[in-house]
Amino acid sequence: MCGIVAYFGKKPAQPILIEGLKRLEYRGYDSAGIALLKNGRFDIYKTPGRISNLEDILPPEDLQATVGIGHTRWATHGEPNTVNAHPHLDDTGKIVLVHNGIIENYASLKKWLIKEGCQFRSQTDTEVVANLIGYFYEKNCARDGQNAPKDRNRFEWAVQEALTEVHGTYGLAIMCLDCPNVMIGVKKGSPLILGVGENEYVIASDAAAIIEHTSQAVYLSDNEMVFVTEGGFETKTVTNIEVRKELSEIEISLDQIELEGFDHYMQKEIAEQPQVLETCLNGRVDVKNGRVILGGIQNQFRILARTKRVIMAACGTAWHAGLVGEFLFEQLARIPTEVEYASEFRYRNPILEEGTIFIAISQSGETADTLAAVEQAKERGATVLGIVNVVGSTIARTTDAGVYLRVGPEIGVASTKAFTAQVAVLAMLAIELGRRRHLGADAAQYLLRELMQIPQKVRRIMAQSDHIRRIAQANIDRENWLFLGRGLNYPVALEGALKLKEISYIHAEGLPAAEMKHGPIALITDRMPAVFIATKCSHYEKIIGNIEEVRARGGKTIIIATEGDDHIRQYADHLITVPDTVEQLQPMLTVVPLQMLAYHAAVVRGHDVDKPRNLAKSVTVE
Ligand code: AGP
Repeated sequence: MCGIVAYFGKKPAQPILIEGLKRLEYRGYDSAGIALLKNGRFDIYKTPGRISNLEDILPPEDLQATVGIGHTRWATHGEPNTVNAHPHLDDTGKIVLVHNGIIENYASLKKWLIKEGCQFRSQTDTEVVANLIGYFYEKNCARDGQNAPKDRNRFEWAVQEALTEVHGTYGLAIMCLDCPNVMIGVKKGSPLILGVGENEYVIASDAAAIIEHTSQAVYLSDNEMVFVTEGGFETKTVTNIEVRKELSEIEISLDQIELEGFDHYMQKEIAEQPQVLETCLNGRVDVKNGRVILGGIQNQFRILARTKRVIMAACGTAWHAGLVGEFLFEQLARIPTEVEYASEFRYRNPILEEGTIFIAISQSGETADTLAAVEQAKERGATVLGIVNVVGSTIARTTDAGVYLRVGPEIGVASTKAFTAQVAVLAMLAIELGRRRHLGADAAQYLLRELMQIPQKVRRIMAQSDHIRRIAQANIDRENWLFLGRGLNYPVALEGALKLKEISYIHAEGLPAAEMKHGPIALITDRMPAVFIATKCSHYEKIIGNIEEVRARGGKTIIIATEGDDHIRQYADHLITVPDTVEQLQPMLTVVPLQMLAYHAAVVRGHDVDKPRNLAKSVTVE
């Protein structure tokens, strides 16, 4: 999961590339680089670390070069250092490119290229692609000795010839020294979008790097390439077949990707949950009739209502939302449902009976494992739906139908508003499916009325930010935490643990609260905070028992409780309250204090909240 940005136009490319890379830095940030093409040479600048390190090594703004490519890296092959940073040149120095993805057969290709006399500088798989293109470009003939067709642009032909040898995934932006008026972008398994401006083009991994220049875009599909020249652009397959692509309107706006006065994107995205949840629900909930309208899948509801089994697949936070979804589908629609880790599902040769519905949940819509699970489900004949946030993303375009979260770009690597919106969409789906099966109108109306009040209730939790920061501060030297919940709050315990882990680097584990006595309670000391989600629900008495088991052994408790519950206060070393709501909808409330706890812990520890170490926002590699 790296960030690619390329500019082809009349303006100075350097500042555009740097600004674009900053907007993509959340995709990967362990090294960065740009290549500018001017006066018959490539000027390449690259360095380990953040974009700011790259800015430090750039010469005074180069205003001559109006064509260039840039890259911010999340290392897959080769440590994050200057030689492994992108862009990569071939050994003739005529081809330069940036790459997002993984070349699976890079080792065998590298061995063959070395035998053919190619030189390598880096340990990366990407340099193999550069040398492969350079090889075909220089020799001007294919591996089988066939000369390049005379009527073809040699650069384009060399790219296509090289990619027929490559197995793996790639988003590529490529330049050739001999063809200063051409830029090529290619997509397979990693996102790539062409922004189409007034006589200028921006090729990028996602729209955040494009929106500043144009709102018109072409979303490339797998095995498609774009050939950009001063006269315009052509889209074709990597086998050189013309492809007609429609221009789409980019749906995000600049202010959605600006910090707007917040210290971090994660802080902004936690705070904007009330309004983006309202946007997510808007026009989809008919309280009066106890019905839900989800335009993207309205035609699938009939099949959905008759299905015998639903399988969901996702990763990370999206998987936790899927686990809430599993409970909701079974409780409200009485449909057997299971949520799978996409990375496991795809390799298990899964059984999908006739009529199974498969639902992929993914904020980015680009997660490689989830995309692979979608493809597996499609091969097995399932009806495949997507619950996705990024409009036009690969998963959104691969599924048969789906529901967009409509919460705007989520930039912080730690997912927050996407989780609550995923749960909201799953709740709406479960209620509507229930209505088409056994759920009565009264029950549905009650649930939907409660659902419409969730955004305002989330807003009330925000007022506890300082209180939650003090709790984080008081426990900041605790290196191991437990998060415990029952029923629908068990997935929230998992999510709370993940949030804390991924941005504060504190080890945390989420568990069903009842599981403590089956082993983990052996861990309890007064230096291991136990976070209990103990809201008023059908498990309330039981979870009080679990809290007492921990306290009886000297454990310290941080309790998420329902506003006005004075009874539970006696069991809490720290108490955070959330407004009451029906049990099925509590995850959208109980997760918020855990998001804030993780955020404050990371800030107090001085970590880069939005770009935590070793992580990236969208895991487009397996
Ligand atoms: C969550 O905070 C993490 N950033 C990560 O687990 C994420 O949820 C996971 O990679 C799935 O991403 P997706 O929703 O974009 O598919």
